[in-house]
Amino acid sequence: MVNKTIDKKQMILELLYRHGGGTISGVKISEATGISRVAVWKHIAALKQSGFAIDSGPNGYALPHPEDLLLPFCFEPSVREQIHHFQEVETTMDIAKILAREGTPHLSCVVAEHQTKGRGRLNREWVSDKGGLWFTLILKPLEPPPLVYIYNFAASLSLSRVLKKLFDLDISVKWPNDLLLEGKKLSGMLSEMETRGDMVQFLVIGIGINVNNDPSNKEFKAVSLKNILKKKVSRKQILTAFLLEFKNRIQTINPTKIIAQWKEQTSTLGSRVRVETFDSFHEGTAVDVDETGALIIEDDQQNRKKIIYGDCFHT
Ligand code: BTN
Repeated sequence: MVNKTIDKKQMILELLYRHGGGTISGVKISEATGISRVAVWKHIAALKQSGFAIDSGPNGYALPHPEDLLLPFCFEPSVREQIHHFQEVETTMDIAKILAREGTPHLSCVVAEHQTKGRGRLNREWVSDKGGLWFTLILKPLEPPPLVYIYNFAASLSLSRVLKKLFDLDISVKWPNDLLLEGKKLSGMLSEMETRGDMVQFLVIGIGINVNNDPSNKEFKAVSLKNILKKKVSRKQILTAFLLEFKNRIQTINPTKIIAQWKEQTSTLGSRVRVETFDSFHEGTAVDVDETGALIIEDDQQNRKKIIYGDCFHT
């Protein structure tokens, strides 16, 4: 069971948030929350301990960077209900699955500041330092299992469009669902599904976006928006725009249209690629993505191969 009770700590954070970066006295917080000043002090200490940047001074407390917060109350009403925020988790994938099993609705979003066991595709580790945008969508599609792949394509298409629109950057999609910026990885997606019989119980799509973190410290071929734009950008703005765009895009699912639009955004088609799976690899030129989302590659003898999963590298 995931604990989501709104407690006094959340009330304190909301008060500080609504005050912008300004200072609020312990007395005012104590009056507004109905707890003693000592209890306020203890809650603030616990919040700091769990990673919230709160300034304490003789006049009270302040949030120096309210724009960094991703708590539900920070979002506009149209997306607020979707947000489930955690300061630190092992992985948002597992939290999303627990919440999905508990009945959390379609299009909910589990977001965490930091993941201690973030996972990537092919069971790789996904480094999830603070400053990145790490979230998992809970989807409860009505389509049967073989058709839900289209949600991944809808997600990468939506994200690439949103980031292009917000930051005017030359972002491309790499098959199946990575986003590249200047040839380096800006974002990755991982999807996992639970089925019963021939029905999808839920699909969770985990999305990691390098926003204000510095992935190049650990991974030469990764890049963040901050690295390129030379300034911090709003994770809340990105998440809000993505959730609205994605919701809109999946209102009526049209696989042919989604794949066609996805192809307009990809840099994989026409590239020489190496696709790694758990136990093998394939090399050739990427010539097409069919309507099931499979990558078609052609080797030097013009033999074509259809690849349904794997990690793709442009060589
Ligand atoms: C990949 O490119 O290998 C996929 C990376 C997916 C990372 C995201 S971050 C949020 C969610 N939680 C995880 O543990 N993984 C996904």
